[in-house]
Amino acid sequence: MNRPPSGTPPETPRRITTADVARMHADGQRIAMLTAYDFATAAIVDETGVPLILVGDSLGEVLLGYDSTVRVSMSEMLHHVKAVTRGTRRALVIADMPFMSYGLTPEESVRNAGAFLAEGGAQAVKVEGGVRSARTIAAIVRSGIPVMGHIGWTPQAKHGLGGKVRVQGKTREQARGLLADALAVQEGGAFAIVLELVPEQLATAITERLRIPTVGIGAGPGCSGQVLVINDMLGLGDFAPRHARRYAELRETMRAAVRAYVSDVESGAFPGPAETVRMDDAVLEEALGRSPLDQPAASTAAGIPLDRDL
Ligand code: KIV
Repeated sequence: MNRPPSGTPPETPRRITTADVARMHADGQRIAMLTAYDFATAAIVDETGVPLILVGDSLGEVLLGYDSTVRVSMSEMLHHVKAVTRGTRRALVIADMPFMSYGLTPEESVRNAGAFLAEGGAQAVKVEGGVRSARTIAAIVRSGIPVMGHIGWTPQAKHGLGGKVRVQGKTREQARGLLADALAVQEGGAFAIVLELVPEQLATAITERLRIPTVGIGAGPGCSGQVLVINDMLGLGDFAPRHARRYAELRETMRAAVRAYVSDVESGAFPGPAETVRMDDAVLEEALGRSPLDQPAASTAAGIPLDRDL
């Protein structure tokens, strides 16, 4: 094995911790989070220095084609969490706990959260729900596992929230409910909290009242940080939520690339000399039995039909 000369700094950058997140928040630094679901994408996101990577259960919809995140299982999440952690060296990787993997009993919640760290290699988990999830969050945090909360529009509660994606907290009762949810998540010991589809003013008010950072999605610029689903921001899907700015149009780029490839295959333009390997013609002559040096007995023994046998 080649060892770096002594004195050379280690190649692996230090992994961001929840203490770093608290420090960034205390310093007033806005925190960027992105989702990633596979090794290759996670590696690109990690290289760019994004501090938080969420393996969101949104993968159920954007990657696996389910009609809802409610369908995503523990084993599917674990599979993707492992791929993402293998692709990252620096980002804090947060595994989204899927529907019904938490909240039934504290023991089961802790066991499932633990699997994301022990088997999956993640550094934290995310749990949806405010007041209703506070005890679960506390149990997971007590077991030594950092938890990110998630309130506002919580996709796993879609059916309980009326089935249709909508902004939460617009009425006085809802707004008070969300404030209570945010405080309960903080008191449960979460290190950060996602605010999804919350009116800007309410998200700002919640952010001002919390010690922990808020990470907004469709919650305006007053949050401590922002998160986007990577497929939305790269323009990979045909669905474009209003809150998601598209930084690229990869669906169109991919379509154009695939069309160009098919056209090249059909016309014979691919593969060309640059993509093709050649061998020594004399060696091929010998291999095919065209060489004057050819040994008839040997070739027959190998059972290969040579030119003179055809
Ligand atoms: O699953 C997910 O990607 C999420 C983000 C939208 C916060 O929960």
